[in-house]
Amino acid sequence: MQELKDTQDKSLLIAKDDKYIWHPLTQHKIQKQIVPIVRAKACKLFDDKGNTYIDAISSWYTCVYGHCNPLLVEALQHQSEQLDQIIFSGFTHHPAAQLAEALIRILPSKMSKVYYNDNGSTATEIGIKMALQYHHNNGEERDTMLAFEEGFHGDTFGAMSVSGLSVYNGAFENHFIKVLRLPKPNGQNNEQVLQKLDELIQKHRIAGFIYEPLIQGAAGMKTYCKQGLEAILNLCNAHRIITIADEVMTGFGKTGHHFASEQLAIQPDVMCLSKALTAGMLPMGVTACQQFIYDAFYADDISKGLFHAHTYTANPLACAVALKAIELLESEDIQTQIGFISNSHTAFKNKIETHSKVENIRHIGVILALDLKLNISRYGNVRDEIYNYFMSKGVYLRPLGKTVYIVPPYVISKEELSKVYKTIEDFIDEF
Ligand SMILES: Cc1ncc(COP(=O)(O)O)c(C=O)c1O
Repeated sequence: MQELKDTQDKSLLIAKDDKYIWHPLTQHKIQKQIVPIVRAKACKLFDDKGNTYIDAISSWYTCVYGHCNPLLVEALQHQSEQLDQIIFSGFTHHPAAQLAEALIRILPSKMSKVYYNDNGSTATEIGIKMALQYHHNNGEERDTMLAFEEGFHGDTFGAMSVSGLSVYNGAFENHFIKVLRLPKPNGQNNEQVLQKLDELIQKHRIAGFIYEPLIQGAAGMKTYCKQGLEAILNLCNAHRIITIADEVMTGFGKTGHHFASEQLAIQPDVMCLSKALTAGMLPMGVTACQQFIYDAFYADDISKGLFHAHTYTANPLACAVALKAIELLESEDIQTQIGFISNSHTAFKNKIETHSKVENIRHIGVILALDLKLNISRYGNVRDEIYNYFMSKGVYLRPLGKTVYIVPPYVISKEELSKVYKTIEDFIDEF
């Protein structure tokens, strides 16, 4: 009897979903398959049929301390009994102040102020506004943003404008804010990139430069030249172009350091954070900046303020969870796990980099990505084929075109990580 009810509930879920929900990044006419997930624990997702999947991408790089981490659940429960939500204009609260203090402590040393918001796109949107209004407040009209080709910074209009052109944002191109795109330095082209930037600076009024430090996530986990980026940041600094590190993906340990920017000799003026900030428990974003940015908005004239707010800005529940997440990040256990994953990736990379069907295998911190050597005409269907194969083996990976990447939760066990590698190897062999 119970079994019959469960079956009815399940088909009801799919029917309700089909009837009422419009999913993101989904062409519903083509993509019919949807998996009901009923529970998640540590690295595992459980579906309605009792199947389990290893979440090998930490649910888009968020749940790095494992799903439903008991310490985060406890922090959330505790805070929910004290203060749930409060407007953040005219009020403040302990979780926001404590989190801001903790962030400033662990962020690169020049960061001095924290502007709360509620997701990765709003974190970058505010970064862009800071850059444009900084110059406006200083009496200089700079109207153009600079970004790398192929970058991804989110889906709101400013964020979309500075992202590389793709199916995500192509329909809105005519409505973008002004943006110039620069090729990524790859070690060979560094001089040309710098020269191009110099020309752009002479011809345009560039307010800010936004970049994903060291590795572009949505582009397909593409790494690029650190020294080339440092040279670009230097030139931007020389022309007072506000530099904005989008660490929404890389932040909180992914590159083996708390933040990717720590690995660069030149620190950004603004940093954008989200995703692992609250470890997947609640939505939250942060745009941190250096003191001189804040100072340009601090005036007797009210119109020089930064008038950007979201209803859930600095939500106390999200702040309390983020504070606990920082404690986890700094713990010896998690740091050891990050080292273990990074070493395991190195060994896996060494093992398969000469495989005839694999190219461009790259690894930084807990991120590992490889491209499948493919006949381009098959490119369209291949992504779904790869995805379905991994799901059928109990591993959740979300390939980007022909790129397969892993960003596992830091708490992944040796056995689980070995299974992820083995499944990738089996797929390559069978493909
Ligand atoms: C580097 C980067 N910036 C911004 C975003 C946008 O974040 P959100 O999806 O929370 O709006 C993403 C999302 O993947 C991202 O990877």
